[in-house]
Amino acid sequence: MIKVGMAYYPEHWDRSLWEEDAARMKALGVHVVRLAEFAWGRMEPEEGRFDFSWLDEAIDVIARHGMQVILCTPTNSAPVWLYTDHPETVQWGRNGRPTDIGIRGHRCIQSPVFRRYAGRIVDEMARRYAGRPEVYAWQIDNELESNHCTCPSCREAFRRWLEEKYGTVAALNRAWGTDVWSGQITRWDQVQPLLAPDCLPDWHNPAFMLDYERFAAWCTADYVRWQRQLIRHFDPDAIVTTNSCFCGNMPDFHQEFAQLDVAAYDNYPPMDVPEDPETLYSNAFALDFIRGFKRKNFWILEQLGGAGGCWSPMGVAPEPGMIEGYAMQTVAHGADLVSFFRWRSSCSGAEMLGHGVLDHDNRDNRRLAEIGNFCRRLEKLPALDETGLHSDVALLYGADQEFALKNQRQSRNFAYWTQLKLFHDACMGLGVNVDVVAEDTPLDGYKAVLVPTHYVTDRALAERLEAFAAAGGTAVLTNRSGVKDAHNNCIFGETLPTAFRKLCGCRVEEYDAIGERRMRIASVNGGSYLVTGWCDILEPEGAQVWARYTEKFYAGAAAVTKNAFGAGRAYYVGAVGERALYRALLTEIFRELSIPVVPGLPDGVEVTTRSGAEGCYRFFFNNTLRGKSFALGERRVTLRPLEMKIETEGGEWL
Ligand code: GLA
Ligand code: ZN
Repeated sequence: MIKVGMAYYPEHWDRSLWEEDAARMKALGVHVVRLAEFAWGRMEPEEGRFDFSWLDEAIDVIARHGMQVILCTPTNSAPVWLYTDHPETVQWGRNGRPTDIGIRGHRCIQSPVFRRYAGRIVDEMARRYAGRPEVYAWQIDNELESNHCTCPSCREAFRRWLEEKYGTVAALNRAWGTDVWSGQITRWDQVQPLLAPDCLPDWHNPAFMLDYERFAAWCTADYVRWQRQLIRHFDPDAIVTTNSCFCGNMPDFHQEFAQLDVAAYDNYPPMDVPEDPETLYSNAFALDFIRGFKRKNFWILEQLGGAGGCWSPMGVAPEPGMIEGYAMQTVAHGADLVSFFRWRSSCSGAEMLGHGVLDHDNRDNRRLAEIGNFCRRLEKLPALDETGLHSDVALLYGADQEFALKNQRQSRNFAYWTQLKLFHDACMGLGVNVDVVAEDTPLDGYKAVLVPTHYVTDRALAERLEAFAAAGGTAVLTNRSGVKDAHNNCIFGETLPTAFRKLCGCRVEEYDAIGERRMRIASVNGGSYLVTGWCDILEPEGAQVWARYTEKFYAGAAAVTKNAFGAGRAYYVGAVGERALYRALLTEIFRELSIPVVPGLPDGVEVTTRSGAEGCYRFFFNNTLRGKSFALGERRVTLRPLEMKIETEGGEWL
């Protein structure tokens, strides 16, 4: 059974409301209530004095109503006394100074003093609750970012991390190429984290920047590993996760979730449903990306429950059907638990305008009814959690690529995230399941592997892709592949795409970072596509030309190539194209590989399939605010705005 959850903050409400709240949640169809996040101040009102009586009681009330809890460690929000009495626990900003406290998330996750206190509260909680039947799972902290804190302990930790990696400053100088601008380091204590950029990040040494991002991401993975082990000490079977989100300081999600039992995400799709092609399938991309963290079904720990706008001004009200539709969409992409945020909008605190399911007046409302519909629908599909998404297509993501390309833009109109989404968008438009997975994922089982901009080069990946293609698979590579070595320095003396040149059967003769300029390429099949951002001028070395430039000094030169490699193929896309280019390419590739597509899907309609021993379900979701209608073989499918239809193996609609 897919589980429905609800975020609830009993500490915000009078005790007299708890019973009724629990009864209403149960009647709605809630299975798990997510508790205690940010409640450290109530659990340890003074240093060393613990009070769990209120939480015991809240858990009892919930359990009495036949529900379980997800307990959150409250470490995102330490009590004020911790910060004032132990200032070493406070995070420092990019300006190299402690942040001003007063909101949430001020803790430094690396500070040994913070770890001592956080360790103690997690220990107290775990000793008391871990292993109890009421506890379904644990969430660590809240929406962790990578650690860009600049406090003295983080500086020390960064230096130790580098020392472990390089051994000597001489080795670090070599790796970072510090002879440029006299950047040589002579003692470890000269290394600084990234401080207030008086200049943009791209004035910094890219080798330093990439190591700094890797360190910052490692801190987050280390932090969740540490908390999980505290919980697991008291319950070796505990399911432990954390609620991820996309943020400015992206962690390395694959490394982070490797330490955890299930992937989880906070899902707040936009309420102004995007119609622009760039963002049309953004929610779908996010969900496929989360499923890739552990290559299995995942959880949503916060799901859109009301108008957001954290925290003011307020966002627009969710359209009718949106709360239910977006929740169903997560299930279609592999969610096995969907926990709504939050039961009731808070009457106090900064978040009072960020709306939960119920308004401040506490009446039943339209949003509650939609969640009820969602629950009723899932109840008719009790074995759905025994199914999963199986994909013939993998889209490879690398945290190194993200970090390196974020800090050193290659050209206007060219970004890593957009590259990934363009390929994902084409899969969605063709109704094909796609796994967004880490670059070190084993490739067997896939028929096509899409590798947009593998920029920081892993030569082992080139070899694996060669073996994959030789055995009959199709690999798709793009511009800016094989550019950097593992230290984020340019590779000397090898022509692009370096490690991938043999696989792709072409070389980059020259390139042109065309930025915002747009121009056309013409495919040999008669297609014409706009490209922008970047143009690799390709010279085939065995590959066939798939498309040619029609403008500038390289008119007539190859823009896209296709190379036969063993029993398989490799495509190389030298420019950043409009959506139609990827649609045409993948249509051809899927035909060659006999990957079934759903032809004629209208824009914004997604088709995904969950299957398993218990059956096979096809999900048709209209992620737009317009009705859609299309032919599915002999049948006609009509979808209202944000409607999800589910088709069983026997062709029956649920
Ligand atoms: C985040 C946080 C929540 C809450 C919501 C508001 O996802 O995890 O605690 O603040 O934003 O939308
Ligand atoms: Zn710090």
